[in-house]
Amino acid sequence: MKKGRPILRSPDLYNRRTTINLIIVVAAFGIALASVYYTRLLVNELKIRERRVIELYAKTLEYTANETNAADLAFVVQEILVPNNSIPVIWTDGSHRPINSRNLNLDPGLPDKEKLQILLDEIPNMEEEHEPIMLTLRDENGEVYDIQYVYYKNSELLNRLEFYPHVQLSVIAIFGIIAYITFYYSKAAEQNRVWVGLAKETAHQLGTPISSLMAWVEYFKEDESIKNKEVIGELEKDIRRLEMITERFSNIGSVPILYHENIPAIIENNINYLKKRISKKVEINIHAVPRDIRAKINKPLFDWVIENMCKNAVDSMGGIGKIDINIKKSMDDRVIIDITDTGKGITKSKINNVFAPGYSTKTRGWGLGLTLAKRIIENYHKGRIFVKSTEIDKGTTFRILLRI
Ligand SMILES: Nc1ncnc2c1ncn2[C@@H]1O[C@H](COP(=O)(O)OP(=O)(O)O)[C@@H](O)[C@H]1O
Ligand SMILES: [Mg+2]
Repeated sequence: MKKGRPILRSPDLYNRRTTINLIIVVAAFGIALASVYYTRLLVNELKIRERRVIELYAKTLEYTANETNAADLAFVVQEILVPNNSIPVIWTDGSHRPINSRNLNLDPGLPDKEKLQILLDEIPNMEEEHEPIMLTLRDENGEVYDIQYVYYKNSELLNRLEFYPHVQLSVIAIFGIIAYITFYYSKAAEQNRVWVGLAKETAHQLGTPISSLMAWVEYFKEDESIKNKEVIGELEKDIRRLEMITERFSNIGSVPILYHENIPAIIENNINYLKKRISKKVEINIHAVPRDIRAKINKPLFDWVIENMCKNAVDSMGGIGKIDINIKKSMDDRVIIDITDTGKGITKSKINNVFAPGYSTKTRGWGLGLTLAKRIIENYHKGRIFVKSTEIDKGTTFRILLRI
């Protein structure tokens, strides 16, 4: 059967998820904007209405100033229209001294002097909100004999309505954040269970055939006819490799124990082993000053990380190039491991994606190598791993920080 593409085309899956997230964010913003915009429309309409009411009030005052028989109209405005609209109003004379007020919730028990002071203080506030309406009082001959003003501000209802979208959006935002955090943690917990469960199960399942294989090797060793054949040695090597894989899986499936180890020595050992398995056209150099740098690590898991990083580096160089591994101590007592390749680099916009599960630019990549490395370094070693620098067609440096 011809081998097709991998069953899971990881880059597509990854891109689709990013698109869905983007759609959700855009939709949320759209809804928020629409809600704010709609409330604005209501507020503006209400403002126009309040202005009309005050104008009507002012007109009535103007009209009734001379026409004593218009008392009924004044009554309608003063007692019904204005109180029911709850628009705070101050009516003043030409020199802005209050004559009367409405809807300011003044305590009736207050002495007149204090009431007056409150009104005087209120006038500049009102003026800031709305231009006062000027009343021109005329006598029977149409001659102007007095000027008065009507100051007013937004009703409580209008204020609340203006403020409302902020409250609404804040509540929704807080709710959204809580929901996201809950979702994120439950997702992380679920992923944890999958990692741990799958790793434990794999280690467990490998156990039986490995011990069986070991028994077979012992059996062959006793057989005179094949005892000295090369195949026995090769078999033993493969078994050791299988045991190493089992150890890695069983460590990732439990709380791994960390030991003080000499990092350059461990990496060197690992690289010597890897060199046999990768292209001869890749040169790997390790620089470490001092030679002995110790940190607490779990060797099987740490080896796994270095192996993944080196394999990625080799892939990015298409099998020809140079890998430099620099190990040093930082000022704040951490171990810095820089792995630099001369490969094709990572596009700036993709730097944040490389550690995401399922992100791969390779036809047969699973996009789990760096996810695993990140998990091992950050969850199990409380260290950090990130892309330190990268340049297209020049190379990439990944940095690992370990606590001593
Ligand atoms: N050293 C590197 N140079 C350039 N790109 C890299 C390097 N290491 C990782 N990447 C990018 O990150 C992706 C994810 O890597 P990884 O998680 O190991 O998955 P995979 O190797 O299966 O693709 C790779 O497909 C590649 O695009
Ligand atoms: Mg990889």
